[in-house]
Amino acid sequence: MMKILVINGPNLNFLGVREPEIYGKKTYKDLVRIIKLHAKKDKVKVKFFQSNHEGKIVDRIQKAYYQKFDGIIINPAAYTHTSVAILDALKSVNILTVEVHISDINEREEFRKHSYVSLYAKTTIKGLGFKGYIDALRYIEGYVEGSRKYKEK
Ligand code: DQA
Repeated sequence: MMKILVINGPNLNFLGVREPEIYGKKTYKDLVRIIKLHAKKDKVKVKFFQSNHEGKIVDRIQKAYYQKFDGIIINPAAYTHTSVAILDALKSVNILTVEVHISDINEREEFRKHSYVSLYAKTTIKGLGFKGYIDALRYIEGYVEGSRKYKEK
């Protein structure tokens, strides 16, 4: 069974409370529930991690190396725009990564346009709300299956 880790960065535990006009009214708990629902349908195992601390996110990414995840879905939140440490952690573990943002970071303040994590992520999904996480799930499923078939040839 495919194993995917979903990491959410700072303030995403406040979904539903924080700037609902940007991030919507649904909570972090709703987000987890929606992803689990789709993962179950697709017969994929998902694990979740949320932290407001940069180092804890680095630790979780490193741990994923030993746990043999097939993919990481990460919304690094504000650390997207600042964290070389999270970028380096992702590069270190070499796990297929998809970056997700609920809002469209290109259509907001100037400082949100640059993402360190994008330098490693296979693809970035932004501006689709919670649906972006489901698209990321499907992207990883497709990518892993595709590369398996390719290796069989
Ligand atoms: C975010 C966008 C970031 O710029 C912001 O700091 C967040 C959330 C998003 O999901 O749209 O906290 O990553």
